[in-house]
Amino acid sequence: MNAYPTPHINAAPGDFAPVVLMPGDPKRARFIAENFLTGARLVNDVRGVQGYTGTYKGTPVSVMASGMGMPSMGIYSYELYHVFGVEVILRVGSCGAMQDGIRVRDIILGQGACTDSRFASQFRLPGDFAPLADFGLLTLAARTAEELKLPFHVGNLLSSDLFYKDEEGLAPADTAAARWAKMGVLAVEMESAALYMTAARAGKRALAICTVSDHLFTGEETTSEQRQTGFTDMMTLALESAAKVKI
Ligand code: HPA
Repeated sequence: MNAYPTPHINAAPGDFAPVVLMPGDPKRARFIAENFLTGARLVNDVRGVQGYTGTYKGTPVSVMASGMGMPSMGIYSYELYHVFGVEVILRVGSCGAMQDGIRVRDIILGQGACTDSRFASQFRLPGDFAPLADFGLLTLAARTAEELKLPFHVGNLLSSDLFYKDEEGLAPADTAAARWAKMGVLAVEMESAALYMTAARAGKRALAICTVSDHLFTGEETTSEQRQTGFTDMMTLALESAAKVKI
């Protein structure tokens, strides 16, 4: 498929930069365009999912929301990679921590993304697929986080289809979160596995950069001020990394 406009993006190839930042929330995309990019212009507005293209320190960068969940991320990343010539997608989102030693506002680079979704079934593989970040993007972002002196962790995310789970009556150790945590999974969110699988199938590159908004076991949550600073740190990391990516 390479006809445009697509059902979800009313733009033409060339309207998007080779590198696209994807927050979950359309309002965040607009905030990034208005506050971090130079000369940002609107390139998509289907369903209120506004996409913008501008520059960051001279490098063309686009920003557009993924929406929430694997189906939504699957749609937008598929169209960007296959129709609009996008090479690199950096997810910039939030996640809930599941390990001791991870604090709210810390940054997690998703080396891999486990999932409870059936998204991978479309590929008809004779086994389970391990969705991975692009290693070059992962090391670039880790190096950039070190330079910026931002606290970060690298490891497995869980991309879950379920925000509200029926776990009534389950002992704490039997909950899904406790089981994933036993396997060393760092944090839960809802999109990265779809992004990594779509990138793998398209032969393109992706990385999820998430800030910790809450902790599932300690109950620690971010204040709105912490959310804003955490968000700014994550955006700086994503944009500084985007500016260094070789296309
Ligand atoms: N679950 C799913 N996604 C999230 C969470 C969570 O607890 N926190 C931030 N994003």
